[in-house]
Amino acid sequence: MREYQKSVIVTKEEIATAVNGLAKQLNDKYKGKEVIAIGLLKGAFVFMADVIRQLDIDVQVEFLIVKSYKNGKTNGKPQIVLDLKKGITEKNIVIFEDIIDTGRTLAAVKEYLKYKGAKDVEIAALLTKPSRREVAVDIDYSLFTIPNEIVVGYGLDYNEYGRQFANIIALNDAGIEELKE
Ligand code: IMP
Ligand code: MG
Repeated sequence: MREYQKSVIVTKEEIATAVNGLAKQLNDKYKGKEVIAIGLLKGAFVFMADVIRQLDIDVQVEFLIVKSYKNGKTNGKPQIVLDLKKGITEKNIVIFEDIIDTGRTLAAVKEYLKYKGAKDVEIAALLTKPSRREVAVDIDYSLFTIPNEIVVGYGLDYNEYGRQFANIIALNDAGIEELKE
């Protein structure tokens, strides 16, 4: 596993501190209100699990699968392949996303949730790669800004490799090449 690591981008300790801070902000903002946390699978599953266990507000959990990536490259057209089970009319939504890259996934998801009648849609992103942005996105809570690297760990993958790592690491060229599908 180790031989594919170029560098550690965010440590598990840094993640824990930032996740704490985000949970505090959400507890303040949504005090006395209901929230639906929508995780974008698969990448956001670890992040959302950590945050929601620190919430003391009323929270329900849903997931969406939006797909557009292969070999770290976007095809530019995000598609919803797993949909919500219940209506979200007039609900407060917080979307949990692992990383915002071109911005196309989030732009599509936000538009979709508004179309489904959500009252308010906020975005919590673990990571953002601003140098790659193609579509503007308002990120309400952004935990770490990272350079233009392919990163894995803490739920994020590269062709399904690396989700279980506690730290977020950048892949080296050998990893990017050998794990290609
Ligand atoms: P966007 O539509 O380009 O913003 O794509 C965001 C999605 O791309 C995220 O949900 C991730 O699944 C994936 N992604 C982008 N960069 C990386 C990366 O460095 N590692 C793992 N997944 C990534
Ligand atoms: Mg994703």
